[in-house]
Amino acid sequence: MLTSEQNERLTQVGPGTPMGELMRRYWHPIAGSAQLNDDNPTKEVRLLGEDLVLFRSAVGKLGLIEPSCAHRKANLSYGIPEPEGIRCAYHGWLYDVNGQCVDQPSEPEGSRFKEKVKLKAYKVQELGGLIFAYMGPEPAPLLPRYDVLAWDGFRDSHSTILPCNWLQCMENSLDSTHSEYLHGHQGNYVYSMKGAPSDALRTVPHNLRLGFDIFEYGIIKRRIMEGETEESADWKVGHPVLFPNILSSPNQFRVPIDDGHTLHVDYTSTPLPDDVPAPDDIAVYHPPLYGEDGRIIRDYTFAQDYMAWVTQGQRSDGVAQRNLEKLAESDKGIILYRRLLKEQMQLVADGGEPLNVFRDPAKNVRIELPDERKGMAQGLTSIRKTRNVQRYPAGEMPPWINPAPWAGNGYRDYLKQRAAAAT
Ligand code: FES
Ligand SMILES: [Fe+2]
Repeated sequence: MLTSEQNERLTQVGPGTPMGELMRRYWHPIAGSAQLNDDNPTKEVRLLGEDLVLFRSAVGKLGLIEPSCAHRKANLSYGIPEPEGIRCAYHGWLYDVNGQCVDQPSEPEGSRFKEKVKLKAYKVQELGGLIFAYMGPEPAPLLPRYDVLAWDGFRDSHSTILPCNWLQCMENSLDSTHSEYLHGHQGNYVYSMKGAPSDALRTVPHNLRLGFDIFEYGIIKRRIMEGETEESADWKVGHPVLFPNILSSPNQFRVPIDDGHTLHVDYTSTPLPDDVPAPDDIAVYHPPLYGEDGRIIRDYTFAQDYMAWVTQGQRSDGVAQRNLEKLAESDKGIILYRRLLKEQMQLVADGGEPLNVFRDPAKNVRIELPDERKGMAQGLTSIRKTRNVQRYPAGEMPPWINPAPWAGNGYRDYLKQRAAAAT
């Protein structure tokens, strides 16, 4: 249990807050590359409690600047992209990607007033079909080239804006027992109501032992389930949680929009067969959160998580009231993660460099992460075969699972095409 003040310190991300300062030491995904094109060259973005405009100039340069024009405050998301930057729609002031005003068409010839006008601007970079932003002090660290982002593959990205604080989403990744209930027993309950036959439901092995270790990129979580031993990959290799706000493989970025909202970006990249060229770009899909009855849906895995995270904060502006919780022995991963957050906030306050920041290009070519499922491409282990919902052939999903999150999934499309070609 935390005090209300401790809870605020861990959850608030605005400028000048301890957690906001820690979060500003990392790159965060804010959009898919495909979301900024000739038809939609600008996008309003809110990140770490700050409103911003992301734009792509007429020659493809990306900029991320404050949204209100310095002149008389018109919103630059309605601006016109030019080679040098974005031109305000109201009186035509032009800003480059650094936020510097470089043209004021109605000012007298030779005026140097524009040199005194500069908007707040942040760095942006693209990797693996996503656009990342960095809002911290200079020099900016390297944008981490985590394996899934750096290899060519069937890329797939889903993003959802959740009305809850980011910490609920992240604590879930240190909460290994929830899979057994939320996705296992509760998932089976929901799928049964939608007509799933009993032999298609998950078998739900019980967690016998949980372990958590701090490593160079964050925390490795381990577990032994019924039928497994200490030699099983679930224990021996484990699964990485990347500090401060990513669940790895597939990467789930929990990006704090502000204290009460989180951009959840789920990103996968399945390695390509040798004869398949890498797709140029990835689309970004927005899986539904609410059903027609206004309730949070639960018929796909992420939605089950979303239900838990959002409802944890429903009584308090999206932030779970940790001053009222009762942590148990099985919550030891959450306790470790909170301790690590607290230590790293203090480290930043003392002028230090926090965990999992990259500055050496030689170590950032492709960051290979440990993952108990790395062998999945070669075939699932028997326990995972029985644990997963029975797969449909050729990339199809069973009718009791909501198809929305799978729309446009490159790997499933490939499987379907291959099956069609074989018949
Ligand atoms: S408000 Fe933008 S140029 Fe006047
Ligand atoms: Fe989950």
